Amino acid sequence: MSRARLARSWWWLILGFPFVSLVLVVVGVLLAAQGGLAVFAVPGEDQASIAQDAATLQRGEYLARIGNCAGCHTARGGKELAGGRAFPTDWGVLYSGNLTPDPDTGIGNWSPAQFRHAMTQGVARTGPLYPAFPFQHFQHLDPTDIDAIFAWLRSRPGVVSPRPANTLKGLASWRTALIGWRMLFHRPATLPQAAGRDAAWQRGQYLVEGLGHCAMCHGRRGLFGSQEPALRFAGGRIPQQGWVAPPLDREALARWSRTDLADYLQTGVGRHGSAFGPMAEVVHTSLQYLERDDALAMAAYLLDLPPVRWVPRLDRPPQRARDLVDQASAGLYRQHCADCHGRDGEGEAGAYPPLANNPQVAALDPVNLIRIVLIGAAAPSTRGNPAPHSMPPFGQRLSDAQLLAILNHVRGSFGNDAPAIDRQPLQRVRALPLE
Ligand code: HEC
Ligand code: HEC
Ligand code: HEC
Repeated sequence: MSRARLARSWWWLILGFPFVSLVLVVVGVLLAAQGGLAVFAVPGEDQASIAQDAATLQRGEYLARIGNCAGCHTARGGKELAGGRAFPTDWGVLYSGNLTPDPDTGIGNWSPAQFRHAMTQGVARTGPLYPAFPFQHFQHLDPTDIDAIFAWLRSRPGVVSPRPANTLKGLASWRTALIGWRMLFHRPATLPQAAGRDAAWQRGQYLVEGLGHCAMCHGRRGLFGSQEPALRFAGGRIPQQGWVAPPLDREALARWSRTDLADYLQTGVGRHGSAFGPMAEVVHTSLQYLERDDALAMAAYLLDLPPVRWVPRLDRPPQRARDLVDQASAGLYRQHCADCHGRDGEGEAGAYPPLANNPQVAALDPVNLIRIVLIGAAAPSTRGNPAPHSMPPFGQRLSDAQLLAILNHVRGSFGNDAPAIDRQPLQRVRALPLE
């Protein structure tokens, strides 16, 4: 090697060493922050015994319902809990696994410790799990609750059901890359201390933040599907679905009393609104099974959440919908909507939600309103409301101009005062898939 080249190599070493050390330190710090290397060491298969008495199984079934395991682990038309439900993401499709005790394709030979580890750390025998699985919420679960869920799952009939292969693209298809995702976005946490709060509030916190994983939809997402803790109830578009989940906090929910809100969660209908879209599914597969005390506890917690608003910057103040309200729009409303929703948008308790003073109607992002009018809706059938009413679709029946007149009529009347909608958002929503 020539003298000059040797000198250059030395320079590289002298300059490179601090750089490489810095990178190593950063990687080390981030690895520690997501739970250290220990989380990737999955416990063994030793079958420690867990309680399996009737009371435990019953509790496990209840908890599994409120955690909505079946909602996400049942394919359309497939056997309950046998996995294979598709999760479309920006990076391709991901599938959930089989939670029945089939030893080869399900969790039949998982140990309780492995199950606990997957639920709280998000790491299974196959490696780190994608965050479409709500382990960031389930990390708050009590170990005895997890064991009860496991005992109940193991008591179900085993179903042979191999998981379809994911069709994720690029880096997303590589499970090991989730270590990087975790370093950036996952922080093990415990629920904040609730000093001075009563038992109902604490139970509500556990159910809303933990088992119920409500922020999965009601939170605003950051890069790569990550969740921003401070904005976890700020509301936002649900990725790939084109529905908006509204903010949940004491201001956004101010019109609800605690008992009305508990009714809504349990039955899907309530004095101030009715569950539709993805929320109807959550109520149908999960929340309708809430025990009354738990529904009241969740309502107490939700009605105490401090508001954190995420407000988009607008280039210019938009036109107000109320400036477009006229005789013609009132006539269209009377003709097509008033029979059910009332002349003044007052609705009918238990049957038709009010449109008056309704934040869903006046939401800045109008996609739910446009969509429900285009495609119609049926409230979920629940134990508390077994024969729900439905709303017909208007997308084919009315012209774009008529639709816009009605949409702006309800956004600018009955106590609602929202920005007007023009043709563009209407066409964007028309282009969304029906599901
Ligand atoms: C919001 C949807 C969702 C909910 C709710 C959900 N899961 Fe999952 N779960 C998933 C997805 C998606 C995966 C696959 C993740 C992966 O492949 O990395 C998964 C994976 C798992 C795994 C790892 C083994 C496997 O099948 O890949 C276990 C164990 C699990 N879930 C248990 C549960 C239990 C128990 C509940 C209810 C308390 C539950 N899940 C609720 C979406 C969900
Ligand atoms: C799969 C996504 C999803 C999940 C999970 C979810 N929600 Fe929703 N939620 C929605 C959507 C979309 C809406 C708007 C449609 C509607 O009002 O039914 C909504 C509406 C609501 C409303 C009505 C708000 C209002 O002012 O009218 C409440 C209350 C609510 N959700 C509570 C919850 C709670 C509590 C949980 C957790 C147990 C939860 N949601 C989980 C998607 C979801
Ligand atoms: C035949 C009765 C009927 C007619 C006509 C009808 N709706 Fe509805 N509407 C319903 C029912 C029932 C629901 C609850 C659906 C659900 O929960 O899935 C609903 C829900 C809604 C909601 C969601 C409210 C919330 O917060 O839960 C909006 C907005 C709405 N309708 C607007 C309209 C407009 C605008 C028209 C006229 C173009 C109209 N509806 C016509 C029965 C009707």
